[in-house]
Amino acid sequence: MSNTEDQTPPVAPDAPAPLPPPENRLRRQLMKGFVGTLVVGAVTYFGWTRYLFPPRPHGLRLGPIADFAPGAPPTLLPPTGNAQYAVQSTGQGEFIVLSAVCTHQGCSVGWDAKAGNYLCPCHLGRYDTSGKVLSGPPPRPLPALPHHVQGDTLYLNS
Ligand code: FES
Repeated sequence: MSNTEDQTPPVAPDAPAPLPPPENRLRRQLMKGFVGTLVVGAVTYFGWTRYLFPPRPHGLRLGPIADFAPGAPPTLLPPTGNAQYAVQSTGQGEFIVLSAVCTHQGCSVGWDAKAGNYLCPCHLGRYDTSGKVLSGPPPRPLPALPHHVQGDTLYLNS
């Protein structure tokens, strides 16, 4: 009796895999080209759009971080509406941002360089560099405000 049912040719154990039919090879090459084009296009697109349209900052711009030198006294920024801010660098890219509006009756506090603390001129309330009340009538500390650095600029969080 002859073996007519098994018609697959014998394959050597270390023989290379047979090539797919030519139309499948073309389909695979087209898919590889398509996927490659998508990847390169996406990388290029997002790279250029980020360059051309950088992310918008979120919050009020306080200034370049280079303006707030570590170890320097706090910088009192010009008033913005009813608000005023004091910024101090603590070094290592960290900052203290305080509301510079006195918690007693809303006067703008100043920096007393001789005493090394904030002084409210209205009723002589004093605050330390973290905003804690040192003396006088203020009922609460100066609020510490959340902030962030984007690029080389310091912003208040919105
Ligand atoms: S308003 Fe600042 S101490 Fe009164």
